[in-house]
Amino acid sequence: MAVSLRPVTRDTVRAVCELRLAEGQERLVAPAAYTVAEGNYEPDAILRAIHLDDVVVGVLLVEVETGVPYLVRFMIDASYQGRGIGRQAVERLVEELRERGWTSVETTFVPGDDSAEGFWRRCGFRDTGKTKHDEPVYVRDLVGG
Ligand SMILES: CC(C)(COP(=O)(O)OP(=O)(O)OC[C@H]1O[C@@H](n2cnc3c(N)ncnc32)[C@H](O)[C@@H]1OP(=O)(O)O)[C@@H](O)C(=O)NCCC(=O)NCCS
Repeated sequence: MAVSLRPVTRDTVRAVCELRLAEGQERLVAPAAYTVAEGNYEPDAILRAIHLDDVVVGVLLVEVETGVPYLVRFMIDASYQGRGIGRQAVERLVEELRERGWTSVETTFVPGDDSAEGFWRRCGFRDTGKTKHDEPVYVRDLVGG
């Protein structure tokens, strides 16, 4: 089973918009349909469907306006969480950003008991000590190691 990042197309846009979170996760990330819509109005944004083989299982959005790519949205459908797909999708994103010449990527997350902090740490991100919109900013270097 291969995880890949693909542009959202007219064939997949509904499946992306219909991605669902588990109960209680709604406070952690905006609905997928918002991500698709907003991704079309962010200058130069990278909007990708996360596929497991040919099935749409997640979505991500990276803003690049500020000079450091900012992973503003990242979600895996509730029924596909906990299978290592999120981690593989991050690695595919890292490869794509490296190819584009970026040297680091930042993300933020809603803090709390059910936060995604542990996920980002396992994906090689570390705390910058900064905050953005009251959320901790984590960074992963894309050069070296
Ligand atoms: C957080 C999320 C993206 C993780 O994706 P996933 O496919 O379920 O994660 P993986 O199975 O690839 O997990 C990779 C590792 O991170 C750990 N992990 C996953 N989610 C975690 C969490 N919320 N807290 C702590 N650790 C977590 C896993 O246990 C695994 O650890 P391992 O190295 O011991 O095997 C997904 O659960 C999700 O979409 N959650 C709801 C929305 C959300 O919080 N998005 C992030 C917004 S910033």
